[in-house]
This record gives sequence, structure tokens and C-alpha cells, in this order.
Amino acid sequence: MTWQQCAAGWRDRESRSRSGLDGRGFHGFQEETGGGGGSEKVACGLAVDSPRVAQPAAVHSFRYSGKELFCENVSLSALAKRHGTPLYVYSQATLSDHFTKLDQALAPVPHLVCFAMKSNSNLGVIRTLAGLGSGFDTVSAGEIQRVIAAGGDPRRCVFAGVGKTEEEIAFGLRNDIYSFNVESEAELRRISRVALKLKKIAPVAVRVNPNIDAGTHAKITTGTYENKFGIAFEEIEGVYARAARLPNLRLRGLQMHIGSQLTDVTPFRKAVEKVVPLVERLNRKHGFDFFSIGGGIGIVYNPALASGDPAWWHTAAGRKVLTPERYAATLIPLLQPLGLKILLEPGRFITGNAGALLTRVEFIKKTGRKNFVIVDAAMNDLIRPAFYDSYHEIVPLVKKSGATVSSDVVGPICESGDYFAKDRPLPKVGEGDFLALLSAGAYGAVMGSTYNSRPLAAEVLVNGSRSAVVRERQPVEEIWRNEKTAPWQTARPGRGKSGR
Ligand code: LLP
Repeated sequence: MTWQQCAAGWRDRESRSRSGLDGRGFHGFQEETGGGGGSEKVACGLAVDSPRVAQPAAVHSFRYSGKELFCENVSLSALAKRHGTPLYVYSQATLSDHFTKLDQALAPVPHLVCFAMKSNSNLGVIRTLAGLGSGFDTVSAGEIQRVIAAGGDPRRCVFAGVGKTEEEIAFGLRNDIYSFNVESEAELRRISRVALKLKKIAPVAVRVNPNIDAGTHAKITTGTYENKFGIAFEEIEGVYARAARLPNLRLRGLQMHIGSQLTDVTPFRKAVEKVVPLVERLNRKHGFDFFSIGGGIGIVYNPALASGDPAWWHTAAGRKVLTPERYAATLIPLLQPLGLKILLEPGRFITGNAGALLTRVEFIKKTGRKNFVIVDAAMNDLIRPAFYDSYHEIVPLVKKSGATVSSDVVGPICESGDYFAKDRPLPKVGEGDFLALLSAGAYGAVMGSTYNSRPLAAEVLVNGSRSAVVRERQPVEEIWRNEKTAPWQTARPGRGKSGR
């Protein structure tokens, strides 16, 4: 048993009894045990109960035991064989561990961690976090419905996004969500109108755009005036003054989010330093409950596997990583004087390296220049490399010895963007071998599509020596279940004179 599992098991029991979530509106998973006889094979590196042990930031539960790659105590080859590939696998211990680390780091201030479920909205994941007392950062009525379906509490949901429809607003109001995170004045007016109609008071927080560059990938930077999010820092006070005159609104707080996958605390500090005085002024006028500082804490993508070992965190590279402790130590002194509840919206930090995508090698294709490893997962299963040029470490489920080969790992989709790695030194693999794409727990399955009529992958949740399917592989007919031919197409197409 790993130390995270020890810790998570204890916390699970504690929080379940605290939250009373067991058995409420939730159908349990079909559970399997074993998964390859890996029980107790994974060494326990640290003792949980020793307060002197500094806990690394984002250790995860994927590691080799002998030649076999395990998630917690379950063999990943066994899962790949049993459930087929492509297959997402999540570690419950890692999810719990990351949530708890952040939650504990924020302990000196009243706070609510609202998990950004856009990063991974599987019911099993939501259920794990709801059981730990998490709130949820949602961006659609669908996501709020998922929270409810997983046994979570909609009153711990914030609802963000630039394009909320009237129906979605009404849904949020009927379910008494904690706050609407508002992105425009038009939206404030719309929320007020819908609330008036439903005879409800809508709790709102406006999203301030602090115009701080997060220094991250352009497609995931949100806090500068180049993008569509929030309201400019200079305009916020006027917006609140006008909002205060709208009926049925309760100005409950202020929200910001500057971007995703931030690996340095400086942009967070700059944004908080800039916005805190604004929160103070607004709070004096409007009587706030909270200030949300958004999500965005980055994770280690490279080296992914090595960073699962607590020892790696003591290397030069490991010591540089942004930890919840450093994040909290920098921001808490700035936030504490506000005396408000602090909301956080982490997604990737909690789910990113809690998940892997398993895939099978279909063919090796050697050309004059390249060694293509053609796998059965594709950009429809994990789009991040195609979309953001992102790096996912790739390792075989059964360790290989010998020299590495520079390889392109590609999927079967008819697009040259359908790749997972280019010119990557990989062990020599062959047809039928299984590979894991690591750090795929965030923005993986949720961004999946059925492009090329490829069914959505199955998902499995691991907990110690147990594993359960938390999403069945999509049956292929389901892809076109809601399609039909047009009425004038009822006759079966003839084969024509020359047809065969
Ligand atoms: N709060 C707001 C308002 C957000 O827009 C986001 C992410 C988060 C919280 C959570 O951010 P996180 O803690 O996960 O960094 N698909 C991209 C990431 C898109 C992030 C969108 N917003 C990727 O795969 O890297």
C-alpha cells in the first residue's frame, strides 16, 4: 500500500461519515478486485503518520513494480486486457491526495475548493471529490446535472462561462447554486430578469480580468485583454454599481482566473496583489461573502512517471515545481486580511496526473525517415498534443530492455495532426504491446469526440486493489443513434443501372 493510499483510505472514511453522502441518489459501480495480483506489490515510500515527513506536491500512483506498470495496486496490462483499449484509468488515491493537499494548504483561511469539473467530469471522479467535501466549478447546466447525478451538492457549485442561456440560469437558480460567475453586463441583466421571473434572489460574482499575463500557452491564457473572459479591471466598480440597482441580485463576491497550467507562482501573486484592494473596496460597498482566485495550478508533465516517486521532489527539478504549500504561503498573507471566504477552482492539479490513457500498438511502420508506432488511441480520445502541442510521457505497460528508437506515436485518424509524440526516444515496441500516455486525467476524456465514428473510450477508476468501470465503452451504434435520414430519403438507395 502506498502512503497516499493509506492517507486516502483514512480520509475517505472520515469524509464519508462527515458528508453523509453514502448511498444518496447514487448507483454504485460494478466493482472488480485484483487486476493482476498486484496487491501490496507497490512499495510504501513514506509513513503517513509521521508529521516530520515533508509531503511532495503531486505524487501520483502510477509506477512499475518489477516489469509491470501499476495504478495503485492494479496491473494496467490486466485492465487493458480485460476492458480493451483505448482505456482511461484514474487513481482514486491520487485524486483524494491532491484535493486534500490543496485543501490543507488553504486551511489558514476560510475557503472552498471548487473542483473545475471541465477537466474531468466522470461521475466516479465527481463522487470521489464530493465525498471529500469539494465544491464544483461548473460551466453548463449539464455539469451541474452531473454533480447532482454523482451525489454532489449543487449548493456548492459555482457556474461560470461567457454564454449562459436563460434555461441554464433558471436551472442554476432552481438548484440554489452558490454563485453565478458573471462575464458581462448583458449576462447580469439576463440573470436578474430570470431571477425576477422565478421569484428567486440570484447570487452573483463578476469575473474581473486583471490583465496579467499568465505566461502559459496562448490557448489557455485567459487573464489578459486579448481574450473574451471577464470584465476589464478598470470597469469593474462601475459594473457593480449598476448591478446593485438591478432587481433580485445578491452581489456575493468577485471572481478571477488568469489561465491554466501555471508553473510559477508570480502571475498568481501579481494578480492577487492587484485585485485585493479592489475586493476590499467592493466588499465595503456590497458586503461580499467570497473572493474566488480561480484555478490554474500547473502539474508536472515531464518527467511524468519519475514525479510519482517522492524522491524526485528532492531533485533540482522537483524543488522548482509549484506546490500547494508555496502557492498558499505566497497568497494567504495577501488574502487573509480580506476576512472573506476564498474560493479556488483547480482542475488539472487534482485530475491531471491521476489519469493515464492506455493504448495498444497496432502496427509499426518504418519509412525512410521515421519509425511510426501506430496505436489504437487517437486525437479523438486525447486531443491535447494535436491542439496545444502538449507533451504526454509514453511508457510501455511491460518494461522493455535494450536501446530506444526515435519514434512518432500516431493514431489511426486521417489527419496528420493525429499524433501523440514526434521523434520521441521510445523502447522498441511491437504489435500488440500496450502503452500508457501519462498525465492524461485532465482535459483528456472530457475533450473526447467521435470523429471518424470512433466510439468514446471506456474509463476505469482504481482504488487500492479494486477497479471499476466508471464509463462503459460507447457502443458504436450509439454514435448515430440520434441521426436519421430525411423523409424524402425513405426508399433504400437503388444501385443504379451500372451499380453493383
Ligand atoms: N476556472 C476557470 C474560470 C477556468 O476557465 C478554468 C479552466 C479553470 C478554473 C480550471 O483551470 P485548471 O486548474 O484546470 O488549470 N483544455 C486545456 C485547458 C483549458 C482550461 C480552461 N479553463 C488543456 O488541455 O490544457
